[in-house]
Order: sequence, then structure tokens, then C-alpha cells
Amino acid sequence: MDSYFQGKSLLKEKDFTGSELYTLIKFAEHLKYLKEHNIEHHYLAGKSIALMFAKTSTRTRSSFTVAATDLGAHPEFLGANDIQFGKKESLADTAKILGSMFDGIEYRGYDQAIVEGLAKYSGVPVWNGLSDEWHPTQMLADFMTIDEVFGHVKNITLTYLGDSRNNVANSLLVTGALLGANIHLVGPKELQPSADIQKLAQSYAAKSGSKLLITDDLAAGVKDADVLYTDIWASMGEEDKWAERIKLLQPYQLNMAAVKATGNPDVIVMHDLPAYHDLNTKLAQDIHAKFGLSELEITDEVFNAPFAKQFQEAANRMHTIKAVMAASLGNVFIPALVEPK
Ligand code: CP
Ligand code: NVA
Repeated sequence: MDSYFQGKSLLKEKDFTGSELYTLIKFAEHLKYLKEHNIEHHYLAGKSIALMFAKTSTRTRSSFTVAATDLGAHPEFLGANDIQFGKKESLADTAKILGSMFDGIEYRGYDQAIVEGLAKYSGVPVWNGLSDEWHPTQMLADFMTIDEVFGHVKNITLTYLGDSRNNVANSLLVTGALLGANIHLVGPKELQPSADIQKLAQSYAAKSGSKLLITDDLAAGVKDADVLYTDIWASMGEEDKWAERIKLLQPYQLNMAAVKATGNPDVIVMHDLPAYHDLNTKLAQDIHAKFGLSELEITDEVFNAPFAKQFQEAANRMHTIKAVMAASLGNVFIPALVEPK
């Protein structure tokens, strides 16, 4: 009998089935228990992990670093300015070199083709730490958090408000459809996911029973939601788009009116972070000086409400990333998959 996941990369959610994703989530919950009870889990003893970052990161970088260390591996940070790749050395050559020295590679960057190329040429498992198109490790933490709060992921209705064509929105749509969760993407017509991604998600939803809604109608989209989710209005690499995004997305702010419009007293709020909910960051201060806004995609009131789960969600990044690395590279045996419930 083979162990599932061995040698497999995590490049995008659609390379996995709903059962595979849910198995990784349940494994992460187990690893969280081990960590909380100080039970050693050195499944990657003696291994070395490359952490390549072409964009900045707090959660993803920290998660890979701590998870690798907890698993007994050595993580090595390779920032975009520290290595030859991108200037003097090609993708294929870099991938071959890193694959000959490291046992696994994390990559965060722009074009999805880069992380796919690393997997193709390196010969070792590659984990996508965010591309312009997908954010798969974020999804495992998000649906783990939902599983912890509600006890299941199937039939949960998650409404995402905002830029509905960014990496996080694409990933939520496809992952929800694979897992059997209902996903509503609510934002202006100009910022809806591509026809290809909608079609792909619909094909998974037809099998899992998930109901998908992509709309610019806020009231229809938030009604009966169990989870309200939002993300930054201009993603990394889109810093020149703030003026147009503010104009398009202000009506879709996650505020108390949106929370009340769900009609669900038990609704929770999620955000992948970082969030622009006050003026305590340089970017928020610049936007305030230019546009006069002191809160962007989420209000401070909602961000600090007891039903806002973004810090539990962020903490789960580490446990889920650990599950992915251990399952694909570690000395562990996963004999069967867990069906999403
Ligand atoms: N959510 C997320 O990916 O955070 P970082 O950009 O800090 O890694
Ligand atoms: N959509 C955001 C997610 C950050 C974690 C970005 O790509 O910047």
C-alpha cells in the first residue's frame, strides 16, 4: 500500500481532490494537537528546505520556517535579492541546482508559471507560497479554521467581499467547490474571476454539491452567510491600482452593515491578512493622505469584534504548511483519505 501525497507538489488546488485537501486539513489538526502537547514530530529529520520569496511575507515565511524546524528540517531563506535567479540564472538552471541540494522548495512570486517550472525542473516537491493566480497554502488554513469553528466544511456558506479576481478569491472559489462549501464572491462586475476559473469551479461544484454565486449584489451575496471574508483591494504587484480599486470596492467594505445583512447571529469573519483596518501602517497613512480613508476593506470595529477569527486563521497557516511538507516529504504514512464532511 502506498502512502498518499509522497513526492507531490502543492502548486494549485485543482491538482488535488476534495478528499485529498480535507485529509491535509485533518492531518494539520493532528499536528496542531502534537505541537500544543509538546509531542515531538521530526518527520523531516535531516532534510533541507529552500524558501524562495520574490514578494514580501510575514505569515507564510514564518510558517514555513517554524514548521520546517518543528519537523527537524533546516529551512534556508533565499530572498529575490540574494540569489542569481531573476537576473543572471534561468528558471530551469536554478531549479536543477536547488533540486540537487534541497529536499523541497517553497516559492512565492508573481507568475504561476515560475512555481510550475520549479516543480518541473527541480525533481523535488515544490509548494506554492502564493502566486498572482493562486494561494493554496492559505486555503488549507482557511478551511481548517472553518472546520475548527463549525465542526465541518461541507454546506458552509462563505461570502467573500471585494476584489473577486485575485489569488485569494480564485482559490476560495475552487477550494470551496472541491470541498462542498458554498462560495459567494461579491464585488463589482469589473473584478470578477475569469470565465475559465468560473467554469472550472462550476464543474467541481456539480460533483460536490457546492453552490457558487458570483454577483455584484451585496445584499443577495451576504444573506445567510456563515463566514464573511475579505482581502486587500490591491494585491502585491498592483500598487498603481489604488485609485481605481477604491472607487470600485468601497461599496463592498466588510463593515457592521454587511455583518448584520447576513441575518446570521453566529456569522464569523475571516481575513488572510495583512489588513487595512486602521492608520497604524505606512500604506494606510499614505492612502489616508491621498484619499481621506482611514479604513479600507474591513472596518476596525469588525476586525476587533469577538466573531473575527483572522488570528486563529493566521496561526493555522503554520500547522497546515507543516502538514503539506510532512505529507509530501516526511517519514509519515497516510494510508487512507478522509472524505470532506
Ligand atoms: N496571508 C499571507 O499570505 O500572509 P503573508 O503575506 O504575511 O505571508
Ligand atoms: N491578495 C493578496 C494576498 C496577500 C496574502 C496579495 O496577493 O497581495
